[in-house]
Amino acid sequence: MMKAITIGVNYKCNLNCTFCVLDKNIKAAEISVDDCKKNIDYAAQAGVETIIFSGYGETLLYPDIIEVIAYAVNKRVFKNISLYTNALALDEQMTENLLNIEENDVTRFRLFISATGYDYNVYNSFQNPYYKDVTFRDKVYKNVQYFINQRNQNKVKIRAVIKYILADENKHDFLDYCRFWEDKIDEIIITSLYPAFNQLQSFKSIVDKNYYNTKMTLCSFFKTGVDIAPNQDVLICCNGACAVAKPIVGNLKKQTLSEVLNSKKYKDYYKALEEFDVENMPKCCLDCEFLFFNEYNIVVTYSSLKQYLEGLLNNKKIDKNEKIAFFGAGVILKRFLTALDVVYDKRLFDYVIIDSFKEGRFANKDIQKPSKVILDERKIIICSDTYFDDINNSLNKLGVEGILYSNYLSKSA
Ligand SMILES: C[S@@+](CC[C@H](N)C(=O)[O-])C[C@H]1O[C@@H](n2cnc3c(N)ncnc32)[C@H](O)[C@@H]1O
Ligand code: SF4
Ligand code: SF4
Repeated sequence: MMKAITIGVNYKCNLNCTFCVLDKNIKAAEISVDDCKKNIDYAAQAGVETIIFSGYGETLLYPDIIEVIAYAVNKRVFKNISLYTNALALDEQMTENLLNIEENDVTRFRLFISATGYDYNVYNSFQNPYYKDVTFRDKVYKNVQYFINQRNQNKVKIRAVIKYILADENKHDFLDYCRFWEDKIDEIIITSLYPAFNQLQSFKSIVDKNYYNTKMTLCSFFKTGVDIAPNQDVLICCNGACAVAKPIVGNLKKQTLSEVLNSKKYKDYYKALEEFDVENMPKCCLDCEFLFFNEYNIVVTYSSLKQYLEGLLNNKKIDKNEKIAFFGAGVILKRFLTALDVVYDKRLFDYVIIDSFKEGRFANKDIQKPSKVILDERKIIICSDTYFDDINNSLNKLGVEGILYSNYLSKSA
C-alpha cells in the first residue's frame, strides 16, 4: 500500500535558492482547489498515510493553502500531514490561520521550515543569492519564533521542524545554527544537498577518492509513494529529485489515482525499478543520482547527532592521521559521518566504507570482498550494534579485528 503522496500546489516562489532543484521558468497555473481536494480524496481512498504539501514552489504563496490543509486534516484518515515552507510568508496572519487548523487524534500536522544558514552570508548565498532583500534571513527567523511562541501560548500541538542542508560550503555555520535553534524548536533535521544538482562533479571526485564501495542501496522512493504536480501529472516517486527527472506515469485530469496506480505503465515501471531492470525502468531514473544511495544521502536529526558531535568536539576523539575502515551502512554510520562532516574536512580524513563483504555474506548481500590489504592497514570500526558479532567473527576469519564504534569513541580520547 502506498505510504505517502506529495502534492505540489504551485510553481511560484518568493526566494530563489541556489541549490533549488526546481525549474524556475515554469509559468504554469497553480492547482485548483477542486483538483487539490480531489487528490486528497483519492489519497484517502487509496489508504495513504502521509500527505506532504510541498513540491514545486513556495506553498504559503498558494492562496488556498489553509483551506486544503484543513480539508486534509478534517478527513481524519491521514496519520501525518506535512507542510514544507521557507517561512518568509509565515507572517502573523498566516501563523494564526495555521494554528487554527486543529489536529485530531488521528492526524499529526507538522511544519517543515527550510532555512539553511545562521550566518547572514550563508543564508544569502544559499537561499537569497540575488540579495533581493537583506532582511529576509531576519524575517524568516522572526516568523518562525513568533509561530512557536503563539503555538505555545495557545497550546496548539502542531510540531515545528527546521531543516538545514549541510554542504561543504556551510559546515562552519552549522553548529551556530543548531545552538541557536536547539531550545526553540521541536527538532532540527539535517539533509544533504541532492548530489545530482550543481555539486555533481565534486561529488564524483569525492566518491572516487574516498570510497571503496559506494553503490550500496538501490532507490526505493517509488515504494514510498507518488508525487502529484500542480498540473496533475503523477510522478512515480515522492522524492524531491523526481520533480527534475519527471518519471511521469499518468495525469489526474484524465484518470483517477487508482486508474494510474493500476495502469500497465505504472506497474511496469514499478516492477522494473523493483527488479532493477535497466531496460524497462523510466529512462530518466537512469540519470537520477538517487538510483543508487550512498552515505551522502543523509537525513538525520540534530538530537540524534548531538552525542556524536559532543564526543568528537569535546574530546577530539578522531585522529586525523588514522586510517579507518568503517563497516555498516545504517543510521549509526550516517550520523557518525555527518558528525565527522561537521567537525573535519572529510576529504582530508582517510577512510573507506565497507557496506558488505563476501566472507560472512553480511546482511545477505554479496558485494565486493574487501581486500585484506585494505583491512590490514586500517583501524576497523564496526558501526552496527546488531551485527557486531557477525561482522567481527567474519573479520576474525580474515585475520583482523574490528571494534565497536562506541568503544572506539570512548577509548581514543
Ligand atoms: C523544493 S522545496 C518546496 C517547498 C518550499 N518552497 C521550501 O523551500 O520548503 C521542498 C524542499 O526541497 C528542498 N530542496 C530543494 N532543492 C534541494 C537540493 N538541491 N538538495 C536538497 N534539498 C533540496 C528544500 O530545501 C525544501 O526543504
Ligand atoms: S527550495 Fe523552496 S524556497 Fe527555495 S527556491 Fe526552491 S521552492 Fe523556493
Ligand atoms: S531513481 Fe530517482 S526519479 Fe527514479 S524513482 Fe528513484 S528517486 Fe525517483
